[in-house]
Amino acid sequence: MNVTRREFFIKTIPGATLLALPITLGPFLESCNDQGTNPTNPGSTLQTINAALANGSVVINIDSSSPLANTGAAAIVNYQSGSVLVDHPASSTFNAISPICTHQGCGINNFDSKTSQFVCLCHGSRFSVDGQVAQGPASAGLHKYQTTFSNNQLTIKIV
Ligand code: FES
Repeated sequence: MNVTRREFFIKTIPGATLLALPITLGPFLESCNDQGTNPTNPGSTLQTINAALANGSVVINIDSSSPLANTGAAAIVNYQSGSVLVDHPASSTFNAISPICTHQGCGINNFDSKTSQFVCLCHGSRFSVDGQVAQGPASAGLHKYQTTFSNNQLTIKIV
């Protein structure tokens, strides 16, 4: 007996099941347009610093020409296999956090210096300089990496 694909589909999946799929899956799918799209104060695109990952760490020099030289500054540090957001909140203090938004995975590339917050342009989530959520829709903070600063060298332990 030959059964077409259409006949097989109709016989094996009752109509009520098809109608129930959106209701069943709805709570598990996060809406892209729920809130915060097009943030009103996105700040500025971060300056980039290129660095090398070696022995599980990224080391960058913080001299007077560095985008991170001044207190309150932030930048994105790119290395071979990824990148990390870095900010300089106080003298000799640096934070290094993941640039991957915990909402839906967009790359964070903006910093609002007025509020000292990283801004995700996809849906407007904002994160404090230590990676905590300042404004949703993201509900989880950004991963924070261990840093050390000595002799004008910032070491970020990636792995
Ligand atoms: Fe939605 Fe970042 S991916 S706010």
